[in-house]
Amino acid sequence: MTDVQGRTAFITGGANGIGLGIARSFARAGAKLALADRDVDGLARAKAELQNITQVETYRLDVRDRDAYAATAEMAESVLGPVSLLFNNAGVIVAETPAKLTYELWNHAIGINLHGVINGIQTFLPRISERGQGGHIVNTSSGAGLAPNGNGVLYCTAKFAVVGMSESLNPDLAPLGIGVSVLCPGPVATNVIHRSQEDAPKGAAPLTEAQERRRAERRELISQALQQGASIDAVGEMVLKGVQENRLYIHTDRFMEEPVKARTQAILDAMPG
Ligand SMILES: NC(=O)c1ccc[n+]([C@@H]2O[C@H](COP(=O)([O-])OP(=O)(O)OC[C@H]3O[C@@H](n4cnc5c(N)ncnc54)[C@H](O)[C@@H]3O)[C@@H](O)[C@H]2O)c1
Repeated sequence: MTDVQGRTAFITGGANGIGLGIARSFARAGAKLALADRDVDGLARAKAELQNITQVETYRLDVRDRDAYAATAEMAESVLGPVSLLFNNAGVIVAETPAKLTYELWNHAIGINLHGVINGIQTFLPRISERGQGGHIVNTSSGAGLAPNGNGVLYCTAKFAVVGMSESLNPDLAPLGIGVSVLCPGPVATNVIHRSQEDAPKGAAPLTEAQERRRAERRELISQALQQGASIDAVGEMVLKGVQENRLYIHTDRFMEEPVKARTQAILDAMPG
C-alpha cells in the first residue's frame, strides 16, 4: 500500500513504545488513528501529542477481552471511518523458568501475546475484507519468533505463532488486496520489561527475598540493554516503509541473523537424505 493518507489505523499497545512510534509515523503520513491500550494515562499523553498532527481517538482496551474488542472496533469506525490499517502490537515480556510455569502464567502470556493478535484479526479482518477496499495488517512478533533468544518459552511460543500466522495469512489475503507484515524487532528502547511486570502472575513456588532481588536486578540489566537498541521513532518509520512496500518481514536490525541461520540449518540437516 503506497498511500496511507486518509486511511484509519487501529494500533493496539499504541500508548507507549513501538506502538507509539508507529502511531507517530502513520500520523505524519496522514493516517487517522485509533489507539487502543490498557494504559489510560499513556493514552492521554499520546492523544495530547498526536492530535496536533491528525485525528486521534483513544480506547481503553485489554486485547484479551473479545466483547470489548468488538465494541471498541464499532466505536472507532463510527468516529474515524473504516479501519484498513491494523497493528496487532500490544505485548508483554514475561519469563519464568520452565519448571516453575503455571497455567495462570501460560494464560497470561499467551492471552496477551497470541490471543490478543488473534482477537485483532478476528475483529477486523471480516470488516476489512467485506469492504473490498484493501488494507494492511502488521503483527508484532519479535526476534524470539524466529529463533529462541533467551526470552523464555512463554514468550517464544506466542511469538513463533505470530510469525506462522502472518506467513500463512500473507498469501491468503494478497488476492483481497490486504497486505500482511510481521514485525520482528531486535532490541528497541522501551520500558517493556518493567511495564510487563504490572499485572503478571507469579510462577509456582514463591521466591525468597534474595531470589526476588536477583530477578529484579536482572530485569533492570535487560531493560538497560534495550535502551541501546533502536528508537521507537526509527522503528515507526521502518514499519511505515514496510507497509508502503508491502513487505512480509520487517526487521529492525540483523540481531537474529546467526540464530536464524543456525536454526534453519539444523532443520535442514535433520531431514532424511
Ligand atoms: N522493546 C523491544 O525490544 C521489543 C523487541 C521485540 C518485540 N517487541 C514487541 O513489541 C511489542 C511492543 O512492545 P514495546 O517494547 O513497545 O512495549 P511497551 O511496554 O513500551 O508497549 C506495549 C504496550 O502494550 C500495552 N499492553 C500490554 N498488555 C496489553 C493488553 N493486555 N491490552 C492492551 N494493551 C496492552 C502496554 O500498556 C503498552 O502501552 C510487544 O508485542 C513486544 O513483545 C519488543
